[in-house]
Amino acid sequence: NQKIGIIGAMNEEIELLHQQVKKASHFVKAGISFYEGHFYGKDVIFCKSGVGKVNAAVCTQAMLDAGATSILFTGVAGALDPKLAIGDIVISSSCIQHDVDVTPLGFKRGEIPYQARSEYVADKTLVRLAQEAGENLFTGRCLVGKVLSGDQFIASRSVVDELYRTFGGACAEMEGAAVAQVCDMNETPFVVIRSMSDKADGSAHVNFAEFTIQASEHSFLMIQEIVKGL
Ligand code: ADE
Repeated sequence: NQKIGIIGAMNEEIELLHQQVKKASHFVKAGISFYEGHFYGKDVIFCKSGVGKVNAAVCTQAMLDAGATSILFTGVAGALDPKLAIGDIVISSSCIQHDVDVTPLGFKRGEIPYQARSEYVADKTLVRLAQEAGENLFTGRCLVGKVLSGDQFIASRSVVDELYRTFGGACAEMEGAAVAQVCDMNETPFVVIRSMSDKADGSAHVNFAEFTIQASEHSFLMIQEIVKGL
């Protein structure tokens, strides 16, 4: 029996879930509130992880321990790919932690030493469902690409260029690859859906404040369609 886990990092990112999911029960683990209920006839569990990789990792493990059989991440990100405009959607092909740097010991940028993988591939079925949702809801404004995560808010054109060149990332955010790593460790399917709140440049802080609510709604609409299709 499937139980779909849905995670957002901030209030704005889970607000519409609070409004739309029929909540049945609630518990707290590691200071994080988890809500279980029903959404389009499916069993779901959702929560606000808090910002950053450690919060996202702890939250994901707790959600899997509570029986989640797949994880969808919903939220906003800074665009790295120049094709992306504010409000556009990125569906994760894979996730990697751009702030992992053990290059002095000969490892690649983003490579976690002595691990089988440092880049985590999203579930094929979830990506396909997301692509179908994107084609219907955001025609021409949705791409499948690499999601870069780090404990940094990116707000510089030179950093954007450097991340895009080094990793070929579509967008930068602060949780996806942590969720992805925990899912990989637990052999659980995941996908990250991000709508662009900003372009991670010198205007990022202003755009983030202005567009986070709208971008969060775009991401929620994607999640809604994916849940319907599951
Ligand atoms: N989330 C939204 N915009 C972001 C940015 N520019 N950097 C990191 N995380 C973000």
